[in-house]
Amino acid sequence: MSRLLIAYGTTEGHTAKIAQHIAAAARRLGHEVDVVQASELATDASLDAYAGVIVGASVHEGRYQAAVVHFVERQRAALATRPSAFFSVSLAAAGRSPEDAAEIHGMIAQLAERASWKPLLTASFAGALKYTEYSWLKRVVMKHISGQKGGDTDTSRDFEYTDWNQVTDFAEQFCTKLAVAKAG
Ligand SMILES: Cc1cc2nc3c(=O)[nH]c(=O)nc-3n(C[C@H](O)[C@H](O)[C@H](O)COP(=O)(O)O)c2cc1C
Repeated sequence: MSRLLIAYGTTEGHTAKIAQHIAAAARRLGHEVDVVQASELATDASLDAYAGVIVGASVHEGRYQAAVVHFVERQRAALATRPSAFFSVSLAAAGRSPEDAAEIHGMIAQLAERASWKPLLTASFAGALKYTEYSWLKRVVMKHISGQKGGDTDTSRDFEYTDWNQVTDFAEQFCTKLAVAKAG
């Protein structure tokens, strides 16, 4: 049993839901897991208590949440000395175009480079369109963007594109890597 931290950024709550799903999968494997929004972590928070760290963020206008970027930069020493992973949440990951996949791949690489971070595992998860929760302007903008890509435009309901089996696999793979690191 190890203690894990999941530090995430979210704007509309979907990444928080994914973080909780990862935590549930890790807890089923016997781990103790703290799930914390990166913006709520103290600047000088110590990660000493954690055997592994999973970081997650969602893409908004081509960027990850600033709190997550700052967390990765501030905690570069801690991330370099324990198994860690990163998951990205976006609408681009819901599409099938190679350009969208390359864009997210590039964003993950750029984030890691900023802190000379080498996560053991990275994943790109498809997010959600929460039309019913957006402001009027956000709803119009997101409908336009989604429509341009041939996506869903019925603003009377929400759409969730996340493959929850992919999320569970990611959590289980990370726990396996953690066990291997611990044994070595
Ligand atoms: C205003 C806004 C801008 C967005 N910009 C992007 C984007 O640039 N690229 C992308 O792939 N997805 C984009 N998305 C989709 C989000 O990444 C997706 O809705 C995700 O589920 C949000 O996760 P969160 O609820 O944790 O913030 C955007 C969503 C909104 C509402």
